This record gives sequence, C-alpha cells and structure tokens, in this order.
Amino acid sequence: MLSDRMNEALCQQANRELYSSYLYLSMSYYFESIDMLGFAHWMRLQAAEELVHTMRMLDYVAGSGGRARMLAVEAPQFSWSSPLQAFQHVWDHERTVTGLILALVRVAEEEKDAATGQFLEWYVKEQVEEEESSDGVLSQVKAAGEDRSALVEADRKLGERRFKFPKGFEMFPYSGSA
Ligand code: FEO
Repeated sequence: MLSDRMNEALCQQANRELYSSYLYLSMSYYFESIDMLGFAHWMRLQAAEELVHTMRMLDYVAGSGGRARMLAVEAPQFSWSSPLQAFQHVWDHERTVTGLILALVRVAEEEKDAATGQFLEWYVKEQVEEEESSDGVLSQVKAAGEDRSALVEADRKLGERRFKFPKGFEMFPYSGSA
C-alpha cells in the first residue's frame, strides 16, 4: 500500500513524464515544419517512449493500492531557433528528469517504501540510457554544425530509429495493473 505522500509524488512524476511526451511531440511537429522528417520521426518515438513511462508509473500506482490521479499538463515550447537548439533542449530536459527521478527515489527511502524503490530502479537505468542517447544525438547535430549535407545525413540516420516496448509492459490489451 502506498503512503499518500508516495502516491502524490508518483502522480506528479507521471505528469512530468507526460509533459516530456508533449514536449517531444511539439519538437516532432517543429521538425516537420522545417522538413527534417528523420528528426521528426525520432522525436515522435521519443514522445511514445515518454507516454510508456507515464502509463507504466500510473499502472504501478493503481496496482499498488493507490489512486492514479491525472494532473494538468503544461503547454510545451512551440518552436526552436535551430535543430541544435532543440536537441540541446532534449539533453537539458533529460538531465532535469534524472534529477526528478532521483528525488523520487529519496521520497521512497524516506517513506521506507522498498517496493517503490525497487520499481524506480527501472527509471534510474532508463535515465542513464536517455542521457546517453540524447548526448549522442546532440553530438551528431553539433558535429554537423552549419554543414547542410551533414545535417541531412544526421536527419536520415535518426529516421532509422525503431520503437520497442519495455519488457513486460503491455499497453494493449489492458488487463489491469496488478
Ligand atoms: Fe521519461 Fe525521458 O524521461
């Protein structure tokens, strides 16, 4: 059974994950508007991953005797001055999310909630991967600099990204979170 504080903290984090999804979807349409469809594709997959992060967390709340509560989602930024600025934003954002996840781990410790602490290990690992992948993409875009053909090549490469659900997570059909 989750404490009220743990329940609330998980719902708040689920909201930040959903905001991340919304932010990356916003970036996806920004890239579509400047005809960089590989980058748009990459961001769309990133948005889908964040939706999985959101639902996985809310499923955990519901399956642990808590109550999954939806909170208002902030409107994300709408436009960026360049691909580099957008990918820098991704990198900064992921670093912020890592800090939020680590703060959530501390709440679990303070609440003496070992089960939630164990559940959050997946998110801690996921953040390591998210930081690595956003750093890798940022480096590619930085390396391309003002060279249009290098940017087109980076766009093509990012367009090859494929989506994978995390092991054991089912979005459809939904059979309950317990
Ligand atoms: Fe779910 Fe990228 O943080």
